[in-house]
Amino acid sequence: MKNTRLTLISTAAVLLTAALLAGCGDSSSGGPDAISIGEYASLSGKEAAFGQSSHRGTLIAMEELNAAGGLLGKKINFIFEDNRSTPGESATIAKKLITRDHVVAVLGEVASGRSLEAGPICQANKIPMISPSSTNPKVTETGDYIFRVCFTDPFQGKLLAEFAKRSLKAKNVAVFSDVSAPYSMGLAQFFKEPFAANGGTIVSEQKYTGGDKDFKAQLTAIKAANPDAIFVPGYYTEAGLIVSQARQLGITVPLFGGDGWEAPELLQIAGPALEGTYYSTHFSAENQDPNIQKFVQSYKAKNNGETPDAMAALGYDSAMVLADAIKRAGTTESAKLREAIAATKDYAGLTGKTTLDAQRNATKSAVIITVKDGKFKYLETIAP
Ligand code: PHE
Repeated sequence: MKNTRLTLISTAAVLLTAALLAGCGDSSSGGPDAISIGEYASLSGKEAAFGQSSHRGTLIAMEELNAAGGLLGKKINFIFEDNRSTPGESATIAKKLITRDHVVAVLGEVASGRSLEAGPICQANKIPMISPSSTNPKVTETGDYIFRVCFTDPFQGKLLAEFAKRSLKAKNVAVFSDVSAPYSMGLAQFFKEPFAANGGTIVSEQKYTGGDKDFKAQLTAIKAANPDAIFVPGYYTEAGLIVSQARQLGITVPLFGGDGWEAPELLQIAGPALEGTYYSTHFSAENQDPNIQKFVQSYKAKNNGETPDAMAALGYDSAMVLADAIKRAGTTESAKLREAIAATKDYAGLTGKTTLDAQRNATKSAVIITVKDGKFKYLETIAP
């Protein structure tokens, strides 16, 4: 008897934990007088560091908005779901958010590949979607209901090509990209074109698949091509392993990447091997702007002293750009809300002034970060 009860209790506990881990949530009580806003995010799985950062930034925005009375006299009912960083989940979640939860807009995703999955659902249902940080151009090309608050990869690729030439003094570069990520394949292309146009040479092109753990064969081929630097447009999980294994193979040239490198986990994965590596991203918490420092303080207070990264700032900005548009529209009716988001001009966010162009993209400065003495260090800002 006792045993059965214990089993029942522990089964209930397991189910409860599973529900919590599934990450589905609802940050306020909602009700008919609330405005429902949805988010789909990589809260667990391979890119959880991105998803969690972005989500925490978004949560701070929602809390600030609700503390200030909500929107249009109603509280915000923020509903979020975890896609576990896996393909095939984001479209289902977007459908559920729209048809079951009746959200007025959808926030997400960090990774371009998953924004490309949910975008068509939002577009077909005419529900505005704002991606905080998907940089692949195709994301907003999905249709007129799809927006982003970050710069795009044609800009990021070009600035990295210039950085490689000017700061790394690299003439010969090897490119090592992830065939499974549209972000990685796109950024590789957007780097190669301007780099070659500026007189640079791509001496080796190697590929891996997200989830791979051993990169030694491709790195050996890269080493043989004797590049001045290695470009790794990919996500931190693999980028970290690639940097470590490159150093183990005696490759001493700089490695560099794009915003996919941005995660504290990168330091845990690659440690001292990261000295002398570089990446571009959207934001630096070292910026002394008072609004940024206010955000840094509230993020730290809520997240065990952790410093916010670019995804956190972009998550916050995506929610605030939406809130600003809802206020200007004076309604959450979808066509009017879409118009108001499209009209976003000079919105002063944490990642710079956001103006959305006719292609629903933002044009913003990037920052270059390096790793020094085991810490991320701001190096320079590059304007568009
Ligand atoms: N820009 C990457 C993508 O589009 C994701 C990313 C966002 C990485 C922000 C780091 C910071 O897939």
